[in-house]
Amino acid sequence: MRIGRSAPARVDRGPRPTRSADERHRHRWAEPGGIRLSPRHRRVCEATLVLLAASGLAWLFLHFADAADCEPEACLARWIPATLRVHGAMAMASLIVIGGLIQGHVPRAWRAGRNRLAGALLLGGASLLVVSGWGLYYVGGDWLRAATSVLHWVLGAAVVPIFFLHLARGRRTRRNPPALTTEEIHEKQ
Ligand code: HEM
Ligand code: HEM
Repeated sequence: MRIGRSAPARVDRGPRPTRSADERHRHRWAEPGGIRLSPRHRRVCEATLVLLAASGLAWLFLHFADAADCEPEACLARWIPATLRVHGAMAMASLIVIGGLIQGHVPRAWRAGRNRLAGALLLGGASLLVVSGWGLYYVGGDWLRAATSVLHWVLGAAVVPIFFLHLARGRRTRRNPPALTTEEIHEKQ
């Protein structure tokens, strides 16, 4: 004897449509043409880049902040190794972050003709930072090491406003996508 209500009989509408694993997991952020990042991906990118910039700029501040005759234990410079530890870790993490964006975000935005100038400036700046960051470890000679250091932090300081410009301009191109060329209109038809 059955207790309770029986399950409604399944109306036969033919075989259920099968969806591939790819389709089941497809999310609107992960659409093949998607340029925007998922909220979590965006948070990871921004947190890494903010910590990278903040630790670099903190080094810069501490490097120049002390009076020439400060007592070693009172000097702000005693925090420099800590900033470098954070900066080194974030520099490595930033390579993963940038690598991930080069794989999807960048080519998609490039093909869509969106935010190319600010994007190219940001990517160019980031590449030069990676190269000069390498130089800080391996370039020999006092003069060349000092020049690499200045180049690195000047680039780093310049990239910060470029990043925010990039975000703002990117959003603007979302609201006003660039007009299609006649060729592109024909291609779409
Ligand atoms: C947001 C941009 C950045 C700023 C403001 C910045 C700033 C700095 C500063 C001020 C220093 C200390 C310079 C010195 O020791 O003479 C430094 C060191 C360094 N930076 Fe950056 N940087 C940035 C991005 C990057 C990136 C993208 C990388 C590589 C992926 C990187 C890798 C390094 C490395 C390897 C060092 C040497 C660390 C050490 O001596 O232990 N930086 N950075
Ligand atoms: C180091 C290189 C780059 C980094 C770190 C970066 C990072 C970001 C981040 C975090 C966002 C916000 C995403 C969101 O709101 O979901 C963004 C937006 C955007 N980026 Fe990039 N990007 C880079 C390179 C580029 C390049 C080269 C282009 C263009 C060819 C580009 C085009 C765009 C566009 C169009 C947006 C706006 C998306 C929207 O809000 O609809 N980016 N970028």
